[in-house]
Amino acid sequence: MKRHVLAIADLATDEIEEIFRRAEAMEARLARGERPSDATGAIMATLFYEPSTRTRLSFEAAMWRLGGAVISASDMKSSSAAKGETLADTAKVVSSYADLLVLRHFWDGAARLASEHADVPVINAGDGSHEHPTQTLCDLYTLKRAKGSLKGLTVAVGGDLKRGRTVHSLVRALARFGANIVIVPVRGLEFPRWLLESLAEQHGYTPRVARPEDVRALAHDVHALYLTPAKPHQLALFTDVEFDLGAGLANAEPITLDALYMTRQQRERRESDGEETGEYLRVDAQTFQDPSMRNTLLMHPLPRTGEIAATLDRDPRSIYFRQAAAGVPVRMALITFVLEQRGRGTQPAVPRDPGVLRAGPLCGNPNCITRREEVVSEQRFRLHREAGGRAHLVCLYCDHEVRIQVIGNRKSKHFHVYEEPMYGYLDAWARDATLQIFDSVKQAEEAGFKPYKLGPQKSIMDAAQVDASIRTLTEAILADTRELNDLVIVGIKTAGAFIARRIADHIRELRGAEIEVGVIDVHGGAHSIRPWPGGDTEGAPPVEVAEKVVVLIDDVINTGWTTKEALSVIWRSGRPRAARLAVLIDRGHRQLPIKPTYVGKHLPTAPFERVRVRLRELDREHKDKVVIYSTVDPKAAA
Ligand code: CP
Repeated sequence: MKRHVLAIADLATDEIEEIFRRAEAMEARLARGERPSDATGAIMATLFYEPSTRTRLSFEAAMWRLGGAVISASDMKSSSAAKGETLADTAKVVSSYADLLVLRHFWDGAARLASEHADVPVINAGDGSHEHPTQTLCDLYTLKRAKGSLKGLTVAVGGDLKRGRTVHSLVRALARFGANIVIVPVRGLEFPRWLLESLAEQHGYTPRVARPEDVRALAHDVHALYLTPAKPHQLALFTDVEFDLGAGLANAEPITLDALYMTRQQRERRESDGEETGEYLRVDAQTFQDPSMRNTLLMHPLPRTGEIAATLDRDPRSIYFRQAAAGVPVRMALITFVLEQRGRGTQPAVPRDPGVLRAGPLCGNPNCITRREEVVSEQRFRLHREAGGRAHLVCLYCDHEVRIQVIGNRKSKHFHVYEEPMYGYLDAWARDATLQIFDSVKQAEEAGFKPYKLGPQKSIMDAAQVDASIRTLTEAILADTRELNDLVIVGIKTAGAFIARRIADHIRELRGAEIEVGVIDVHGGAHSIRPWPGGDTEGAPPVEVAEKVVVLIDDVINTGWTTKEALSVIWRSGRPRAARLAVLIDRGHRQLPIKPTYVGKHLPTAPFERVRVRLRELDREHKDKVVIYSTVDPKAAA
C-alpha cells in the first residue's frame, strides 16, 4: 500500500504520537553518534517547484542520516517542467526512479494530484496556500517537548492566516490534540471560512472574542478570536445582528498564552496589489516584557521577514530555531513510518472523503490544481451537508467550498437551480448515485438535461407596495440613527444592493445627506464590502465600517444563512459600533437566531415555497413586484 501524507488529516492522532516517539529515539541515536540504517537501499526523490531551505534540506539530511539516498532536480526550471511537462507526468516518471516522493508546489492540491499518478508514497512538503503537514509535525513535536503536553495549551496564531499553509495544518492538529486556539489575524488576511467551519464541525470548536488586553501586547487594533472546544458560545460572534462587542468582551475570560505562533506575510501568493497590507504584526523584546507573556513560547515556521526582532533570538522562550532543527529527526521518523507501510494491505487509519461525488463543477479557487491541470479522477468533491439543510461541495484537492448552483438527476435527465428546499432531493440523489452537479443552467442544458417546472406564481406585493415598504424601512432606519455621518448602508447582492441604494436615495431626498452604500456578494464568495455598485468597482478600496453604524439590507430572509455570511464579511471588514438588519420580506423558517431590526412585510411561507423580489432595476418588465410560487416535486415533474 502507498501511504501518502498529503494533509495533516492523513495521520491519525496515535500515528502522530508514534512519529514523535520515533523522532525522540532518532535524536538520541544521533546524539550517541550512531549511524542508523533504517532506509538503506531506499531512494527519496525531492521535487521542489518553490524555494525552500528548511523543508528540503532537512528531508534530504534525514534520508542520508537513515542510510538512504536522495535524487533531486536542483531547480525545477532545469527539469522538463520548464518545457511544459505536467505535474502528473513528472510524478509518474520520477516515482519509477524512487521509493518515496517529496513534493513542494505552488498550486493548492498539487500533492494530491501527484499522489494519483505516482507509484510510490507522496509526502506534501507544502502545496500553495493549502497545507504543510510535515511543518506541523515539527511544530507540535517542539511544543510538546517544551511544554510536556499539547492538551489544554492555549496557542495564539498570528499574521497571514489566509494564505499561510503552515497554520492551516497547525490549527487542525492543535484542535485534534485539545488545545485552545487564539486567532490574531492581520486585517484582510483572516483564516478562510472553510477552515473555521471545519474546526467547528470536525472538532466542535466555537469562537469567542478575546479580550483586547490579552492580545494588546501583540499589536494594536486587532480583533482576536478565541476558539475553544465545544462551549456554549455557539455562533455568537457571527449571528448576533445587534452584536454588542462590549457585552461580548465583558464576558470574555482572561487568557494565558502558552505559545505565540507567528507567520510571515505570504507576499508571493498575493491575488492582487490591493491585498498588500500596510501594518503587520511584529513582536520584539518589549512585547515579550509584558508580564502576561512570562511563560509564552515564541514560535515561527521560518523564514521570518521582520515579524520577530532578532533581539529575541537569545530569549529562552524563543523556540523557532528548535522547530527548524526538529526537521531532521521528525522527518527521519516520518520517512521510516511511510516506508514501513509499503506492502502492507491496510487502509489509512484516517478515513477520508466520505460522501465523495463522482463528478462536479469547477473548483472556485483559482489556485487549485484542478483549474491548472487536467484531473483524471472523477472524485473531485465531497458533498458537505450542514445541519438545517444547507449543503455545499468541498474540493478534495484544496478544501475550498464550492456553492451548489444547479443539480440534476442522471436517471430522469432533469435539472433544477439549487435552492435549500430541494435539499431532500440532493441528499436522496447523492445516496443513489444519480446526482449530477452543474456549474450553470447552460452547462446542464448542453449536457442534454431538461428543467423541472415551477408551480404557478402569485403576486404578493405590487410596485406601490414595494415602494411604500422601502420608504417605511428608510424612516425606521432614520428614526434610530442620530448621526447620519456614521451610517453605512450595505446591501446583499443582488436585490438587497438595489434596495440599499434606494434607501440611501430616500435619505438624500429627506435629509440631504449622502450615505455611503456598500455591496456584499455573498454568493460570489465575497471577502470584503465593495463600494456601490459592487461588481464594477474592482480596484476601489473596500468600504470601511469600523466604528460605524451598519445597516445590512436584504430582500428576503429565510433560514438566516445568507445574513450570517454577510455579517461575517462585515465583521472581518472592521468593528462596527452597531450592525442592524433590514429586510423587505421575512419568510420565517429561521435556522439561526437572527432577528431583523426592520421588516417590510412578514410573509409566513411553507418550506417548498419560493419568494422572489423582482425590482425594476433587474426585471425587464420595469415594474417592482414580489411573487410567491411553489417548487414542483421533481419526481412528479420527471
Ligand atoms: N518552514 C518552511 O517550510 O521553510 P522552507 O520554506 O525554508 O522549507
